[in-house]
Amino acid sequence: MSQHKTIRRKTAPDILAAKGGEAIPCLTAYTAPIAAMVDRHCDLILVGDSLGMTVYGLPSTVGVTLDMMIAHGRAVVTHSERALVVVDMPFGAYEESREQAMRNAARVMAETGCGAIKLEGGAHMAETVDFLVRRGVPVLGHIGLTPQSVNALGGYKVQGRGADADRLMADAKALSDAGCFGVVIEKTTASIAAKITTEIAAVTIGIGGSPACDGQILVVDDILGMFPDFRPKFAKVYAELGEAADKAIGAYADEVRARTFPAPVHTFKD
Ligand code: KIV
Repeated sequence: MSQHKTIRRKTAPDILAAKGGEAIPCLTAYTAPIAAMVDRHCDLILVGDSLGMTVYGLPSTVGVTLDMMIAHGRAVVTHSERALVVVDMPFGAYEESREQAMRNAARVMAETGCGAIKLEGGAHMAETVDFLVRRGVPVLGHIGLTPQSVNALGGYKVQGRGADADRLMADAKALSDAGCFGVVIEKTTASIAAKITTEIAAVTIGIGGSPACDGQILVVDDILGMFPDFRPKFAKVYAELGEAADKAIGAYADEVRARTFPAPVHTFKD
């Protein structure tokens, strides 16, 4: 008789239920092997549109397409089993109307099997969030620094300073009231992130925000040191894999040139 271990994957309501408890560890993942590793340790995996930079080498997230998100989302869902997988809606896939957002979110959920989607924007997206949530699409909001608006924001600057803090609070409340189970708060002052966390019902997930948030997310490539020349100040580097990989590839190429590499395990006969 075969024995099946049943693992119940976390859902958006499970993440919401964790508000105010132990902090929720979250990371991005874009590929099968990293998804399997992140899944062993984190409660939420975000297939972030940051893959535009980390995987495709684009200058920003603006050029990321729905097809890219679906391809990577499917790989991450297939190679994870316990974490909630959230797939980012790319720029241009949801802003036009709530119907456009629903059509594309339904495609993302049906074709990847993910448990929720994420979209950027504050109070002006609340109507769309409400529309999606009422139709069965769990939504993670994203406020503060919203990278898809980099061209309008004039760069990747800290958000929520001074009078801007009131706008951020209003954005967070509007998204939470519209039904977001969580809100990512990116690159804001620690005090506004902490205040939002105590005042909204949704879980807050900080990135360069505040340790007071209900959870923390970072780009997995940043904590693994994959890009030695690009180190966001707020991301601690836990391993230097970029340098290690560069060294390993260099050693391999040197040995091939010098013909000093070990003989292959198997050689083909004529
Ligand atoms: O695309 C992304 O990786 C994000 C961050 C919140 C990590 O949106």
